[in-house]
Amino acid sequence: MTLMRDSIDNNLPVGIFDSGVGGLTVLNAIRAELPHENLVYLGDTARLPYGTKSPASIARYATQATAKLKDQGIKLLVVACNTASAVALEALRNQMSPLTVIGVVKPGASAAVAACPGGSHLVLATEATVGLGAYRDAISALDPAAIVKEEACEMLVALAEEGWTDGDIAASIIRRYLTEADDGDFRPDSIILGCTHFPLLKEAIRAEADPGVQIVDSASTTASVVSQSLQSAGIRRQSREAGTLRLLATDGATRFARVGGLFLGEPLSYSDVEIVDL
Ligand code: DGL
Repeated sequence: MTLMRDSIDNNLPVGIFDSGVGGLTVLNAIRAELPHENLVYLGDTARLPYGTKSPASIARYATQATAKLKDQGIKLLVVACNTASAVALEALRNQMSPLTVIGVVKPGASAAVAACPGGSHLVLATEATVGLGAYRDAISALDPAAIVKEEACEMLVALAEEGWTDGDIAASIIRRYLTEADDGDFRPDSIILGCTHFPLLKEAIRAEADPGVQIVDSASTTASVVSQSLQSAGIRRQSREAGTLRLLATDGATRFARVGGLFLGEPLSYSDVEIVDL
């Protein structure tokens, strides 16, 4: 800890990345919890979606995104993508060592177990996250009595990236996934939004789910883990000024600004987004 405190400039930003704009849901929670921290966000929009790619490709993309943020100079990395967290978290930890790397799967699993201990959980996630059983493993490790079912919902990523988060099209696609997950006797206590794009569809999912089901995501739990990690490493920013935000994307500044503004809840212009090559 002493080494961390002495050698890391606490004014360095926290780095955050996702395949696209979805990780901005996590960034929002981090900004709310840690308003004085400087943040740099990278959306790998040129290669979105990650969720349909092979683990080898996802690991390669995640490694390259991490290298780009490391080059910018960061003090901690948040992998704000369940898919990259599921596939490559350990590799990214080795890459960034001795800096801390925080993924979103474990915080999402903790939030669900805290909301419904011993309960049944339906995880909506990408194909890759479901294929690896990432939430099943993370929840079972925390709560062996829990029952977990996972449903790959890749179309929800496209809806979120398009900004179609309500209305008939979103409702009918969500209904189809929930129907596919319903084998007759599985009644979830919680629906886990196991992809950082899905919180934007939260109200549409709630409208299609059984009444009383808790809708859980990893954003605020991840922000708490980030806060605790900065605190315990002694690298929280000491300034009273609001932190800065840099937005990087690998393609499409105008599109990133349009859809990213929906996620951030504030208008963005293409000039707010720097295009970078990995
Ligand atoms: N937002 C990402 C996640 O949390 C991935 C979406 C995608 O690129 O498929 O899994």
